[in-house]
Amino acid sequence: MRKEVVLITGAAGEMGQALIHLLSERGVDNILAIDVRPVPKPLRSRCRAAIMGDILDENLFGRLVSEYAIPVIYHLAALLSTRAEFTPEAAHRVNVNGTLNLLKLAADQSSWLGKPVKFMFPSSVAVYGLPDLETKEQVGAVKEEEWNQPTTMYGCNKLYCEHLGRYYAHYYRQLAAEPPHNGVDFRSIRFPGLISAFTVPSGGTSDYGPEMLHHAAQGKPYACFVREDTRMPFMAMPDALKALMTLELAPRDALTTHVYNVTSFNPSAGEILERVKAAFPDAQVTFEPDLKRQAIVDSWPIDQDDSRARRDWGWQPDYDLDRAFDEYLIPNIQKRYAAV
Ligand code: SER
Repeated sequence: MRKEVVLITGAAGEMGQALIHLLSERGVDNILAIDVRPVPKPLRSRCRAAIMGDILDENLFGRLVSEYAIPVIYHLAALLSTRAEFTPEAAHRVNVNGTLNLLKLAADQSSWLGKPVKFMFPSSVAVYGLPDLETKEQVGAVKEEEWNQPTTMYGCNKLYCEHLGRYYAHYYRQLAAEPPHNGVDFRSIRFPGLISAFTVPSGGTSDYGPEMLHHAAQGKPYACFVREDTRMPFMAMPDALKALMTLELAPRDALTTHVYNVTSFNPSAGEILERVKAAFPDAQVTFEPDLKRQAIVDSWPIDQDDSRARRDWGWQPDYDLDRAFDEYLIPNIQKRYAAV
């Protein structure tokens, strides 16, 4: 008998760690965690198994198929937008070929299991690309189908993988004598920049938000790499997980698309600093824009229109800017660094 598991790739990443924590708190005791890096020890004990492996490695998939039944996949592994610009082809391999491997796994699993496999895929605000700041100001919150002209390899990869997901859900092997019936139940969320109280992201371009906060909490100076007036959407990690879980549980026939925007607040970098200073008055933060990373954030919208998610599966964030800082970020960060 193959063991039934919930598969999480990118399990040692920011979102992966938070998801393992939440699922295990909710009693899910059959998590199979995969990452190229080791999953931190306290989280490993919350998993049925944690494998150090590469989603580009065919042997890994051979092992998964022979040992496990996988009705749900959270495919979180990716190289984020800044990192991807330094090694675009390697990023493409991980972000696209890696996703293709997981989609194929999901399709195979669904034929074994005789039911659709749920495939949860975090996409990103990076799929949008606005040509200049004036347009960014003018258009405000963007809808899913608007401005899909990403300027980063990561954004291109995420946008394309959304299409691959749609393809596997509806058209995979469409000309075969017996096209598969069950298939992949692909559900994707375009997240804004995420902020966690417990981890810092690595290799992203929205990292200035979390970095400013975590540096200040540790009494370290921070040079913010974007201008003070830079604005893009952000979300507290508990809301990102809430979105992922709510979409996963939504009835299939309530969903009118495979890809949904979600959003909760969109402070400027200067407004993030105000919140940080209110909690850590000695914070030493300067603004020293890196023009190239600035250009990436300038191509991202001021906000995302998430009315489709609100309508189809009742999306609503729990944390606005005040609550995110006052009730989640600041108290947990203070505790975290006081304990070090
Ligand atoms: N946080 C991501 C990044 O900065 C955007 O999805 O790359």
